[in-house]
Amino acid sequence: MRRMLPLIGTPSSHPGGRSAMTCRFRCGDACFHEVPNTSDNAYVGDVIAGALSRRSMMRAAAVVTVATATGAAVVGTGAPEAQAAEAQAAGAGASDAAYWSKKGARGLRFAPVAPNTTDAVVIPDGYHQNVVIRWGEPILRGAPAFDPENQTAKAQAGQFGYNNDFLALLPLPGERGRELLVANHEYTDEILMFRGYDAANPTREQVEIAWAAHGLSAVVVEADRRTGKLTAVPRHHLNRRVTATTEFRLTGPAAGSDLLKTSADPTGTKVLGTLNNCSGGTTPWGTTLHGEENFNQYFANSSRPTDKRYGIGTAASERKWERFDKRFDVAQEPNEVHRFGYVVEFDPYDPSSTPRKHTALGRFKHEAATIRLTADGRPVVYTGDDERFDYFYKFVSSKRMKHGTSRAVREHNLSLLDEGTLYVAKLTGDSPAIEIDGTGKLPSDGEFDGSGEWIPLATATAKGAVSHVEGMTADEVFVFTRLAGDKVGATKMDRPEDIEPNPRTGKVYVALTNNSNRGVGTNAKADEANPRNANKHGHILELTERWNRPESTTFAWLLFLVAGDPADPATYFAGFPKDKVSPISCPDNVAFDPHGNLWISTDGAQLGSHDGLFGVATTGERRGELKQFLTVPNGAETCGPVIGDRQVLVAVQHPGEIDGATVDKPASTWPDGPGKIVRPAVVAVWRADGCDIGS
Ligand code: FEO
Ligand code: CA
Ligand code: CA
Ligand code: CA
Repeated sequence: MRRMLPLIGTPSSHPGGRSAMTCRFRCGDACFHEVPNTSDNAYVGDVIAGALSRRSMMRAAAVVTVATATGAAVVGTGAPEAQAAEAQAAGAGASDAAYWSKKGARGLRFAPVAPNTTDAVVIPDGYHQNVVIRWGEPILRGAPAFDPENQTAKAQAGQFGYNNDFLALLPLPGERGRELLVANHEYTDEILMFRGYDAANPTREQVEIAWAAHGLSAVVVEADRRTGKLTAVPRHHLNRRVTATTEFRLTGPAAGSDLLKTSADPTGTKVLGTLNNCSGGTTPWGTTLHGEENFNQYFANSSRPTDKRYGIGTAASERKWERFDKRFDVAQEPNEVHRFGYVVEFDPYDPSSTPRKHTALGRFKHEAATIRLTADGRPVVYTGDDERFDYFYKFVSSKRMKHGTSRAVREHNLSLLDEGTLYVAKLTGDSPAIEIDGTGKLPSDGEFDGSGEWIPLATATAKGAVSHVEGMTADEVFVFTRLAGDKVGATKMDRPEDIEPNPRTGKVYVALTNNSNRGVGTNAKADEANPRNANKHGHILELTERWNRPESTTFAWLLFLVAGDPADPATYFAGFPKDKVSPISCPDNVAFDPHGNLWISTDGAQLGSHDGLFGVATTGERRGELKQFLTVPNGAETCGPVIGDRQVLVAVQHPGEIDGATVDKPASTWPDGPGKIVRPAVVAVWRADGCDIGS
């Protein structure tokens, strides 16, 4: 396993843009392995077709309104303020503060934070921040205070988990100033959790702590009405932990199939735990969705071709969990691995509910899952498979959402994602292939754009499921979805991360984070939808469903943003002047503010600056004007943005995760300063004068 000395604040040499330590623990070194998609699917440039009409009929999507609950703010707390102020003042953004504070689209009027390598959360001038909750803070009744030197699995099961990624903030009617925060805990980094961790010989207690540190947290948070500060409310009856050992129900068409039966569960419907929950979404019926992403890395000893397509290894796993529970050993329990890689649905309002894994949405490395409703109330879920050269998908339900809060209504809505059709995306460019030269140079029509189709893979009904893929049963399509995508010729993308419809316009944004292997060796070369070979910085695709109906089976698309240093000719910011935008690299999570601006958080930025959060207008004359709102500490990724009227929430994931760092040799002192263990945490940011964000 590769180990390197700490190089704080410098970009790693890793092709995927992260430190080797992050690659090792987060995605099982996916980028060091061969590309799992060896199918010979056509690429976009093979066919030139007329673009669809991009005229869109505006249709407001029904989404849960994210309530914000901050009052006037006076002071901030949290990160090392002096360092942060210095970094903020050092940037071009600060020198132009007066200009920027008056300019920009509504919701984006702030002085952009300059690129920096400060070990802090650096926010715009005039804003304050606080740490809402950290790894290990007790949230359940009876859970002890965090003690890094005396961790136990029992304690961790009642405490906030490790490596927060997706965040949802849900209303809490009847409790003034309070909301319900739901967080994903994507993965554990044992080297940064346990002093003297021996990766070759983890102890049972360490493994069980890691199981308890994965999963989800629900925790009630309370806003300070004077300052905008947000704090956790421990021991609230809605607080809950879901871990790698919590019971889940498999639902939908593949539930109960032979492919999902194990010696511990001959019904094929019950599974323990959720793993590697990355991003997610909030449903209009008040539940949350969570993507099980790099689940492959927890399983050992497989030699099956189907497992190879998912990157499941032939040897021992990184964390050696198979030594402590044979279900992680594919040689001993072959079907357990088929029970991970789904979209999870969680009902945070019912602490006794059994969370579900939705087989109808397919099995792959789900980054996220976000919803738009059809005009007649059926949910359409967009979801991407985060792997180099993999695909993005949508699911169109055949059932209508019901309104209300009765148990019967909630039960009905929890079944919406069990019946419908799963599709995969195929994209076609409208410029001649010869004009897509792999450098990022725009073709002669001035845009990377084209048309696309949603290819049906399988349909689930109350009476059973039908496969639309030759040679595969419906069960196989839902469990080996990547192979189904291969067979129908889906378009190989540059790592589809978050994907989300704009609630104001209906247009869908797909973050394609990077793909250093594009055009390298025998891998697929650049095409109009993925126009740069060795794509280091990624891009964002904007998709318009035909007639702006989410259930359409055809769409138009264009590249909204081609990321990188704006001085690099191979970048594009929706046509906005490039001397007026912030540099950005490796877009990952996306979110919308109440004005319809797109907010983008980055993971593994390759421009020498720390990762951060950016806002960009998607409509009007300022479309494409991208501005950086914050940066995160050494080694961290910015995750889970929630943008309300008066508050921005971000999850600071894997701070200090830099090659060579350990508990004794930390690469970051965030959030609690020198001498304290580095802890992933959630941060709230608000305006010092109590006004709306970016107003
Ligand atoms: Fe967990 Fe695709 O990022
Ligand atoms: Ca074109
Ligand atoms: Ca992500
Ligand atoms: Ca990522």
